[in-house]
Amino acid sequence: MEFNHRPVMLNEAVASLDIKPSGIYIDATAGGGGHSFEIARRLGEAEGKAPAGTFTPGRLICLDRDPDAVKAAGERLKAFENVTIININYSQIDEAAARAGIDKADGVLMDLGVSSFQLDETQRGFSYHSDAPLDMRMDKQGRSAADIVNGCDESEIADILYQYADEKYSRRIAAAIVSARQKARIETTRQLSDIVASAVPAAYRKSRHPARKTFQAIRMAVNEELYHLKAGLERAFELLKSGGRLSVITFHSIEDRVVKQYFASLCQGCTCPKDFPVCVCGNTPKGKLLYKKPLVPSKEEIESNNRSRSAKLRTIIKL
Ligand SMILES: C[S@@+](CC[C@H](N)C(=O)[O-])C[C@H]1O[C@@H](n2cnc3c(N)ncnc32)[C@H](O)[C@@H]1O
Repeated sequence: MEFNHRPVMLNEAVASLDIKPSGIYIDATAGGGGHSFEIARRLGEAEGKAPAGTFTPGRLICLDRDPDAVKAAGERLKAFENVTIININYSQIDEAAARAGIDKADGVLMDLGVSSFQLDETQRGFSYHSDAPLDMRMDKQGRSAADIVNGCDESEIADILYQYADEKYSRRIAAAIVSARQKARIETTRQLSDIVASAVPAAYRKSRHPARKTFQAIRMAVNEELYHLKAGLERAFELLKSGGRLSVITFHSIEDRVVKQYFASLCQGCTCPKDFPVCVCGNTPKGKLLYKKPLVPSKEEIESNNRSRSAKLRTIIKL
């Protein structure tokens, strides 16, 4: 299957990294290599302009936890000599850097969530639009979505739906899942989607697909997305040189909140109570935001790529 993913906020994201000709960049979520291609192209452009022998070429390290994405990115980027592609979780970005032989980076990009390719490849079980085994594992290992909906108890399922997707009918949906699985194991995306549709009020079924939030939440639980995101952000920031940039594109409020709060904590200076005459905590800001408010896609991009509609780009610069 062809890797058909349109990179979201491509120009804004690549510009936010402020690509330097000899810089070292990490695309922590390579996917089909859309953003990576543009970063590699810009690095190559600078090399092409330099007089021979006067220039240290930049490097791009691409990571993805999905072996299929790694293959697709490899194919897309094969013309570039200065690109290294590694099949690894970005929460191990420090290990990836060590494997690639680098100890600091000028920029890291994280474009969160799943790609259109993963959604469109029916057998992966990410989409409620088609009938497929209930899988959703990005790295094709560990607990599947079927293991979670058939194995967790009702309150755990309700918590997953509420915490990972703000699903307001979390309890009703969890109860419906438990009642359905007492009759037969839930094995397919269609079964899950039908159970959710039958559990929510009719009005809820009219606005958006009723299973949208349930699928998002279960996918996040299967892939332990928030755990890896928090670890990935910390390790990526750690890896940056002074002046280096970390840019993150989020697609929903739960993951955006994690990024926003982490960036805010890095920007915070003294935390002493206001009435202290002198600072005793000694805290100084470790980063500064490139934009006060996150960038969002243009109207044109949203019109031409519906997947971009909820995207937010946040960038922090290491001090
Ligand atoms: C939105 S897509 C990226 C698309 C890419 N920027 C492009 O232009 O083609 C997100 C990618 O991140 C990968 N991914 C998600 N979580 C990850 C993690 N914790 N570690 C590494 N890769 C991850 C997914 O497998 C998916 O391929």
